[in-house]
Amino acid sequence: MPFAKLDYMPDKKLIFSKDQIQSRTKELAEQISRDYAGKELVIIGVLSGAFIFVADLVRAIDMPLEIDFIRVASYGAGSVSSGTVTFTKDIELSIKGKNVLLVEDIVDTGKTLSFLKQHISDKKPASLKICTLIDKKERREISVNVDYSGFEIKEGFLVGYGLDYAEQHRHYPHIFHLLSPKK
Ligand code: IMP
Ligand code: MG
Repeated sequence: MPFAKLDYMPDKKLIFSKDQIQSRTKELAEQISRDYAGKELVIIGVLSGAFIFVADLVRAIDMPLEIDFIRVASYGAGSVSSGTVTFTKDIELSIKGKNVLLVEDIVDTGKTLSFLKQHISDKKPASLKICTLIDKKERREISVNVDYSGFEIKEGFLVGYGLDYAEQHRHYPHIFHLLSPKK
């Protein structure tokens, strides 16, 4: 096993290891540093899922930037989207006229992201791009453009590296497929 402990974790299958995530994050950060060179960049992380990804991504971006967080709830406590996005914490920085990069953990149906995109666009940033660690592209119900994507997966409910199931499992250093989440 490439990871220690975690014996207490229920049925799981390793999907992306810590090393795989780290090297892909570094590639994304290099691309972002090149694309935004000389520009004013604000990173907005979507809580709670993206908190670990944002922490690793920003430390690999080699340029000045500002960081803020926004919070929405879309899943309730289960693994099936409720379809309703509830907005629970807004950003605090002023982003008017600045270049915003919104950082998500997973884009699934696209409902959360389209809601967030509209909300952030209303604040009149100079530009708005999306970075997600994982893209479940084939499950999209609302079309939303993703500019930077770490990994694509077709199916399965993932946990670890910030991703939760009912607020559990976020602290694992790797990403696992949770084999039998309760619906
Ligand atoms: P969407 O609105 O259907 O695109 O859902 C996106 C949100 O659902 C993400 O920000 C995640 O918080 C959550 N989500 C979607 N798929 C997964 C998963 O496989 N594991 C954990 N959270 C997920
Ligand atoms: Mg979540």
